Amino acid sequence: MRGGGSAGAARRPRVVLGVSGGIASYKAVEVLRQLTESGHDVRVVPTAAALRFVGEVTWAALSGQPVVTDLFTDAEDVAHVRVGREADLVLIVPATADLMARAAAGRADDLLTGTLLTATCPVLFAPAMHTEMWQHPATRANVALLRERGALVLEPAVGRLTGADSGPGRLPEPTEIASVARAVLARGRDGMRLDLAGRHVLVSAGGTREYLDPVRFLGNASSGRQGYALARAAVARGAAVTVVAANVALPDVAGATTVPVGSAEQLRAAVHDAAPRADVVVMAAAVADFRPATEHKYKIKKESAAPDAIELIRNPDVLAELVANRRPGQVLVGFAAETGGPDAGVLDLARAKLARKPVDLLVVNRVGSGLGFEVEQNSAVLLDRAGGAAEIPLTSKDLLAHQVLDRIVDALHDRKPAGAHTPERTSVNCAGISPDLPRG
Ligand code: CTP
Repeated sequence: MRGGGSAGAARRPRVVLGVSGGIASYKAVEVLRQLTESGHDVRVVPTAAALRFVGEVTWAALSGQPVVTDLFTDAEDVAHVRVGREADLVLIVPATADLMARAAAGRADDLLTGTLLTATCPVLFAPAMHTEMWQHPATRANVALLRERGALVLEPAVGRLTGADSGPGRLPEPTEIASVARAVLARGRDGMRLDLAGRHVLVSAGGTREYLDPVRFLGNASSGRQGYALARAAVARGAAVTVVAANVALPDVAGATTVPVGSAEQLRAAVHDAAPRADVVVMAAAVADFRPATEHKYKIKKESAAPDAIELIRNPDVLAELVANRRPGQVLVGFAAETGGPDAGVLDLARAKLARKPVDLLVVNRVGSGLGFEVEQNSAVLLDRAGGAAEIPLTSKDLLAHQVLDRIVDALHDRKPAGAHTPERTSVNCAGISPDLPRG
C-alpha cells in the first residue's frame, strides 16, 4: 500500500485506531477488522469511556496487540510519545464531541489525546454524535479548529441515530471509513497535504436508468466504483464532496453527501442544483444519451400488442450544459468510455469528444472485454485541453482517482474557491452537553 515512514518500503502501514466513548464504538470493531484484513498493523487506543462500551479483550484479540489507555501503565515505555510518532495514520472512530473538544484544546489527559499531540502523520476523525451536539457552536468551532490545523474531520452521515430520531451525526459505514483511511494512506506522507481543503467537489457516478414501464428500463453496466473512488479520494484530500449517485449499489462514501438519482433527467437536475457551488465537477456517471419517448404507466403485457420498435428521444447532454454555463474558475472533468470503432481508435474518438465538449480533463477508458465497468482496477489516458495525453497503466480505481485529482489540483491552482461549503446550522442546542457519551 505505502512505503512511507522510516522503516523501509516492506513494512505494513501502521494505523492507530483511537476509539472514544459513544454508542457507535462497537462499529469501530468492524473498522479494525477491515484494516487488519487489508494488511494494516493496527494499534487500538480506546478512551476510558470507550471501554465502557466495548471491552479491552475485544480490541486486544482483534488487533493482536496490547491495549493501553492511560499514561501511567508501562510508563517507562513513554507510550504517549512512541505510539503517535510511529503511526502512519491516526484514525478516530467514533470521534465524540468530547474527544474533539479535548483534541482542539490540546489536552493530553489520556493516551489517545497524548498520541494526538505527538502524531506527525495524517489524523482522520470520523465523528458520531447526536445532531444537536454536532450542530452546537462549540462543536462547530472545535471541528473548524481541528481542520484548520490540518486534521481531516469527516462529515457524519445523515440517518437514523440512537432512539427514534434521525439527522446528521450518524457514523458512516465502517467499510467506507476504512476505505477513506486507505485513500489517505495511499498518498504516503502527502496524506498530510489536504490540497482540496476549502474546495467543493461534485462527482456524478453510476449509470442512469430510463424506464419503459414501472419495471423495465434501458440502462448500462456502470457500477459507480470509479466515481466513488474519486469522491473518496477527494474526501481524503480535504474537499467537501457531493456525490450524485445514479443507481449505485455501493455504501455511501464516508464524509460525502450523497444525492441518489435514477434517470438522466433526475441526474441533470441534481447536478445543476449543486454545480453553481462547486469548484470542480467530475462527470463520471454513464448518462443515457436517449430515453424512451413514452414511459408507460402500467407494466407492458406481452398480450397487449405486437412488439413495437421503442421510439427514443435524445436526453440533454449535462456535461455540454456545464461547459456552456461554466462558472469562472470552475474545473470540469469528463469521462469517455470508448471501445474504438472500425475507422477510429480510442484516442481519436476521445479527442473528437474533447473538441466537442472542451473540459479541462477527459478521462479516457478503454471499455469492452472485461475492462472498465464493474471491476476493481482501471487504466486510463488523461487528455487535457492543451492536447497532452498521459497514460495511466492498470492500477486500483483508488490510485487512479488520486492521479486524476493531482491534475485537478494543478488546474485549480490560483483559482478562487467557490465559497463556504460547511452545512448550515439548522437548530440550536444551548442546553448542557453530556461529555463523551454521544448517541449517534
Ligand atoms: N454525459 C452527460 N450527459 C449525457 C451524456 C454524457 O453529461 N447525456 C457525460 C458523461 O458523464 C461523460 C461524458 O459526457 O463525462 C461522455 O461524453 P459523451 O460524448 O456523451 O460520451 P458518450 O455518451 O459515450 O457518447 P458517444 O456515444 O458519442 O461515445
